[in-house]
Order: sequence, then structure tokens, then C-alpha cells
Amino acid sequence: MNDPNGAIQYAGLYHLFYQHNPRGAFSASKHWAHVVSPDMLHWQQYPHALVPQPGSYDKDGCFSGCAVVHEGIPTLIYTGVDPQVQCLATSRDDLRTWQKHPANPVLPAPPPGLEVTGFRDPYAFRGEDGLWRILVGSGIRGVGGTALLYRSADLLHWQYLNPLLVGQAAETGRVWNCPSFFPLGGEHVLLVSGQPVWKPFTFTGAFDGRRLLPRASGLADHGGCLYAPQVFIDERGRVLLWGWLWESRPDEDILAAGWAGVMSFPRLLSLNADGTLASSPAPEVETLRRQSTTLAAQSLPEGQRVIPALRGGCLELRARFSPRGARRFGLRVFIEENGNCTRVGYDADLGEVFVDRSRAGISAKMAFGWPNPPFHSARLALDAGEALELRIFLDQSVIEVFSNHGVVLSSRVYPAQPDACTVGLFCEGGAAELLSLQAWQLAL
Ligand code: FRU
Repeated sequence: MNDPNGAIQYAGLYHLFYQHNPRGAFSASKHWAHVVSPDMLHWQQYPHALVPQPGSYDKDGCFSGCAVVHEGIPTLIYTGVDPQVQCLATSRDDLRTWQKHPANPVLPAPPPGLEVTGFRDPYAFRGEDGLWRILVGSGIRGVGGTALLYRSADLLHWQYLNPLLVGQAAETGRVWNCPSFFPLGGEHVLLVSGQPVWKPFTFTGAFDGRRLLPRASGLADHGGCLYAPQVFIDERGRVLLWGWLWESRPDEDILAAGWAGVMSFPRLLSLNADGTLASSPAPEVETLRRQSTTLAAQSLPEGQRVIPALRGGCLELRARFSPRGARRFGLRVFIEENGNCTRVGYDADLGEVFVDRSRAGISAKMAFGWPNPPFHSARLALDAGEALELRIFLDQSVIEVFSNHGVVLSSRVYPAQPDACTVGLFCEGGAAELLSLQAWQLAL
């Protein structure tokens, strides 16, 4: 699987679609797979919602898109390839089966006169006039990525307005994939995935109905493994995100495993005062907590140690540290018998929270190299006296780290026996203090 698509809550149930190749763990023949859940955690698989139709406008794949309800009718808006065109499918049986619209493709070409580097991944929202707005991920040749803004009353006839925002190719990529656009904290946020920088960028600012005037930009995830996230607003008005966590192992290992790609936990979004995005795990995730382990507050001398009681492949770890004078400190996770592990910690000199996979316990070689380096970090300035908070979710090969101000880093590692792995602490260049540590086994 790759991108999440069509995230929507409908009649209380969460529906999530995703890019899926039923033929194997390689990128080809994109279908829309479909899962349904009451709580975003326990899923039931529905039949494929969209299947490429030989000889038609989506013969080479049903690429990413969104779900809306238009005049009571659940509707998917997606990209057919090749060439890239925008299409509709509707459901008359509560989202179980989908019929492609006879008017497809409803948007058969990019705006005339614009030399674009891509034209896909439609995302719809309502304008202040009550009409639909649709953003299509794109790029202007020689300039940078963009999201093209359209208006439509019926999803069938679309009027091109303008680029919502244009990026610089050197900074945020030549083409923007998978736009999401949503109000948050009194402002608007554009989320796009930039190719070929392979990062999920955010832009926050004022939306004047035609253009976004950004005052801040950032990343939706700093771990280097989350791409093509999609944001939706649920029936309670919560702004939620799912992202595709791609693999970090070589293709031959992926083929041997028989699967590739996982979905992140659902994340609740808010805005920091500086306009950057703050992510936290959706509160539903806490229902997965089982047996808990607590460690008393203690000084953390230089060196490293294992917490013997703490073992498992599916864990939530919640720790608070006071840096004191230490240079680097944090948790070691997925510690294998040979001592290999992944370090999740804070570098007080640099003011960065980091995930270091350079000694990750791995079942085979990691596919390190651009755009998949072993080390990822995010700027995180702690105020004087402010504790470092780490909330880490481990799930076999997945690490999701939430830190202060909603900074998040997602990563993938491949320990040979994740369930046998232990957790530990480390500290370098002085002594830090562990203020609290609580851990839970997680289970569905
Ligand atoms: C992003 C992306 C999208 C496209 C889909 C195809 O990962 O390239 O732009 O719609 O994947 O699977």
C-alpha cells in the first residue's frame, strides 16, 4: 500500500481508502482498497472501491484522491492515469460499492497555457459561497510545486481559478502530491508532499478565497518515513491526519515479506503559536493500552542501561526528562541481544529531538542512502526548566515519536525478533534526570 485516500467519517463510521496493488508488494496497478472502522483502530476490509478498467481513462491506475458527500451522495474524486485526469465515482449502498461516473473524466486536462509537471490527487472542500473547491496537486515547470484551485457547483463542471500557492523547486520539490487544505486555529493550512524531496510540507496563513498567504511553513513529520498524508475533519470537527509510512528495507526483502507500507496512527492536529503543525495521537489510541510498567524518577548518569522489565514489539512509552547539563539523552528502543538498537533522544547542544537508526537492530541490510538516511532530527528549543517529553509508539517495524509542541518523527526499523526486544536509557556528556517513565503493552 501507499497513500491514504478518501478519509471520511460517514454515519458514525470511519472510512479509509488507500493506494493498493493487489498483485504484489511493488508499485503498480493502483487500486483503491477500502477499510471501515468505528474507532480508527479496529478495521474491517471492504471490497476494493476502485479498480483500473482496461482500455479506459484509468487503465494504468486509480491514483490518489478524496471522498465527499455531495447532495447526500457519497462521492470519490480520484485521478485516472495515463494521462492524468480527474474522475468521480459514487455509491448508493452506504459506501459499500462504487460506480464510476459516466461523465468521466470530469477534468480531462490541466489548465491550458500552463506547463505543468503533474496533475493529480484532487482534494475537495467547501468555499464560503457553499460551492466546491478542488485542489489538484501539480507543479509549474521551471518554478516549483503547486496546488491548482478549481471551483465547481456539481463536481462535474470545474472552473479553474489559480494556483493556491507556488513553491520553489529547490526547496519543496518540482511537483506537489496529495494536497490537503483545511482551517485550523483560525488560519488555513496547506499540506503537500513534495517530489523529489519526498517530504510532507505544511504552509500556514490567511486564505483570501483564492490564494494562501503563508506566514509559516514546516513539516508534518520529521522522521523521513511518512509521505502523502491526508487530512480530514470528522463528525466531531476534529482535524485528523493519516500518513503512509514507507519501507526502509531493500526491494528483495520487501518482496520476500510479501507486503510493503503501513498507515500511521491517526493523528489529531492543532496549530502552534508560530504556525507550525502540532500532532498528537488521536485519543482513541489510548484504548490499546494493556499492562503498564512505571519507573521511578531518577538521575540518569552517563552511559546506557536496559530496563529489564520492559520488553515487547508493541509498546507505548511515555517519558519526561530534565536535561540538566547532559549533552544527549533519551531512550533506546528495539534493543536486540547483540546490543543493536534505535536511539530516540534529545541533543541539548543542537536543540534537536532525533531518531538514530545507525545501529538499528535489523533483520537484513537497511536500504540507507538518499532519501532514506539513518539519522533524522527536528528543531526543538526547550525553554529554561522545560522538560523534554517523548511519547513513543513501537509496532514491530514502526516507530512513531511525539515530542513537545507536537513535533513528530516516524521511522521504520526491522529487528529480527521485535517481541524479544527490550527498552533502555542512554545519556552522554553529563547527567540528565528522568522525571517519569510509564510504558504500556499495546494490543487490539
Ligand atoms: C504519492 C503518489 C500520488 C499518486 C499515488 C500513486 O505517493 O505518487 O501522487 O496519486 O502516489 O499511487
